[in-house]
Amino acid sequence: MNLSHLSLKDFRNFDQLDLTLGPGLFLFQGENAQGKTNLLEAVAMLATSNSFHASSDREIVNWHASERVTRIVAAVQRHNEEVNIEIVIFDPTQQEKGSSAEREFQFIPPNDRQRKRLKINGVPKRAIDLIGQVTVVRKIVAQRSALLKRIRENQEDPRMLDFLDEKLTELATMITFERRRMVDSLNQHVDELQAIISGGREHLTIIYRPSFLIEPAWDSMETLQNYRAQLLDARRKEIRQGVCLLGPHRDDLEFLVNGVNMLTYGSRGQQRTVALASKLGELAFMRTVTGEEPILLLDDVFSELDFSRREYLLRQVLRHEQVLITATDFARFPEEILAKAHQYRVASGEVIQC
Ligand SMILES: Nc1ncnc2c1ncn2[C@@H]1O[C@H](COP(=O)(O)OP(=O)(O)O)[C@@H](O)[C@H]1O
Ligand SMILES: [Mg+2]
Repeated sequence: MNLSHLSLKDFRNFDQLDLTLGPGLFLFQGENAQGKTNLLEAVAMLATSNSFHASSDREIVNWHASERVTRIVAAVQRHNEEVNIEIVIFDPTQQEKGSSAEREFQFIPPNDRQRKRLKINGVPKRAIDLIGQVTVVRKIVAQRSALLKRIRENQEDPRMLDFLDEKLTELATMITFERRRMVDSLNQHVDELQAIISGGREHLTIIYRPSFLIEPAWDSMETLQNYRAQLLDARRKEIRQGVCLLGPHRDDLEFLVNGVNMLTYGSRGQQRTVALASKLGELAFMRTVTGEEPILLLDDVFSELDFSRREYLLRQVLRHEQVLITATDFARFPEEILAKAHQYRVASGEVIQC
């Protein structure tokens, strides 16, 4: 998959941007606060229509835009066909009455906080909820925590928990198995990737730590029953604290490099390497699941890496179909890699090819 064209209108600090891309390595150089991260944020939004930074879509609309409407229009090449994506985001709080933007959005219900429209090949779509299942569990966890608090205040009978516990154990078991499967398949890639970027010095293992006890040999029925029993054991404590203590929302991952926990003992460069190996591992995993090579976005990841890790990483990413990389400078990068790349400069919300 590759992004062949991107145009932005009033997206963060971009007034207007038109970029023609395609397969290959794209380097975006610029000083701090020029729009590098904003540019990658726009590309990432094409995957989910949600920002990974903004707490509300409104933040994305350029402050200086008179009409307070953002447009992201893109053409993506997938399996030899072109997909056109258009995302329009509207900030209703700053709208002049009767403006053309307001008229365009007047059919969106006033309580719809998203204020966003998505079209794929010209056809209106709903933002596909990629983490649907997790959202459902979160809902149960929230309901359960609210119930725990009411039980604590003696406003509800503890037996009311049984019904929610039944739903939670079923979904949690499913998610736990799915997560374990994903971590297993990530582990098939990350060890090699960590070794590549670190020049053979480091080995990485990711360990999945569910919030409740599971023996690896248990099947889903045994897991479900044991989880239910653990929830019952924890019930008094949960009621006392008024929070849900055991469940997928409390699961954890550990990253071990040569057996050492990176969260506690990793150097910045090692932690960065772990993050990169995990990201590249995730792309490899997605490629096997979807049969499609995702676009690789690397935002400012080089500053903490030494020269040899930079070089190993670049050689590795060159194998991807399309890679977009930002940095404040590319001065200490191998010449022959720079020669293969399309280079751009980002300054004050403008992108100029070098
Ligand atoms: N909605 C917005 N309208 C206008 N400017 C914005 C908006 N949101 C963020 N900015 C500005 O964009 C600038 C560039 O941000 P960023 O892309 O993170 O910089 P960098 O090049 O360092 O990655 C910041 O100075 C920020 O204040
Ligand atoms: Mg940045």
